[in-house]
Amino acid sequence: MARTTSTFLTSDEVAEMLRVDERTVQRMVKDGTIEAVRVGRQYRITPGALQRYLRAQGFIDMAAPEAAPAEIIAVVNQKGGVGKTTTVLNVAALFGAMGRRCLVVDLDPQANLTQSYGFNPEDLAGTVYDGMLALAKPTRQNRNAVIGARGIDEQAVADNLNILDAGGGVDLLASNIDLASADMDLAAVPYIREQLLAKLLRPLRSRYQYILVDCGPSLSLLTVNALVAARWVLVPTQAAYLSIRGIQALLNSIVGARELNPNLEILGLLLTMVDERVRLARTTVQNVKTRMEQMGIRVFDTVIKRGATFEEASSERKSLLQYEPGSPHTQAYQNLLAEMLEVMDGEQTEVAVPAFAGVAGSRA
Ligand SMILES: Nc1ncnc2c1ncn2[C@@H]1O[C@H](COP(=O)(O)OP(=O)(O)OP(=O)(O)O)[C@@H](O)[C@H]1O
Ligand SMILES: [Mg+2]
Repeated sequence: MARTTSTFLTSDEVAEMLRVDERTVQRMVKDGTIEAVRVGRQYRITPGALQRYLRAQGFIDMAAPEAAPAEIIAVVNQKGGVGKTTTVLNVAALFGAMGRRCLVVDLDPQANLTQSYGFNPEDLAGTVYDGMLALAKPTRQNRNAVIGARGIDEQAVADNLNILDAGGGVDLLASNIDLASADMDLAAVPYIREQLLAKLLRPLRSRYQYILVDCGPSLSLLTVNALVAARWVLVPTQAAYLSIRGIQALLNSIVGARELNPNLEILGLLLTMVDERVRLARTTVQNVKTRMEQMGIRVFDTVIKRGATFEEASSERKSLLQYEPGSPHTQAYQNLLAEMLEVMDGEQTEVAVPAFAGVAGSRA
């Protein structure tokens, strides 16, 4: 398993990464150039402290996330089949219908989102994986990795991406099967392995108002990349199967990512596939809300009920808005979006979609 951002580094590990003598690192710790904590006779350095040092030296140049316009929302839950991809698809369709420029990024090797739009992930080049690897490559080949990373032209890498028209005003940065090996490929990249997606998206942020990142069902290095790139985390979860330990593990990853991305916040927990016909389900929803709010996690008032429409729409490769614009499920996603905008913008926005949105942009 790849090391995540919360792991401490020893001074000899940092020396190895910086290609300097361990005594040099100890000297830098003593004179305060690198922050560290002392554990027994050893120094412990967080990846965040290393990043701050590299940034202070001008080796890594990350624009502050708030400086760029697009809001990046990572849709994350390490549990599979909880509605992450469905949520990305439907929220993006609503953004598109509202005339807001939206990019969706498929960061899941399963490539479900890419397939949902009718693309065959096996045929695609210029995917998110290609972009991340292009940013990492000089560091893999060049022993002086930090200098290599500094020398990369992020704009040129972004220009080489194959951004696809997903219809309905939505753009797609697709996944392909190669992403399955990304965790191993990227683990070998020093310093910037958690920041590759942030770097890849940086030149694109001026082109979009919203970037939604669909993550796979794990807390892998790819998911850490999404958390480091994003401003917000949206967590779809099935009320009936919510596990506090699972949420705790996710929170730990968020805390780790904040070392590199201090502005990261949970946008909210979204209860999906809620079966409201069963009275028990209502109690479960209420319990989940109480427990999560005790942990300081916002839970959206909107819940997404279970419905056959989802499978039907997906078999026709359509968003709910395209498949059944007037359905209560479409309305639920509209309500969700209104809540999301209220949290992100701090003000209420009516989520009204034009009547023709249901037929516009369908690829089917
Ligand atoms: N509210 C719902 N009611 C019924 N079925 C749903 C609902 N939301 C999603 N589904 C269906 O459940 C399945 C899993 O949903 P989805 O692919 O969005 O989950 P996921 O979290 O992205 O899964 P993975 O972790 O594998 O990427 C899909 O077949 C989808 O069509
Ligand atoms: Mg998915």
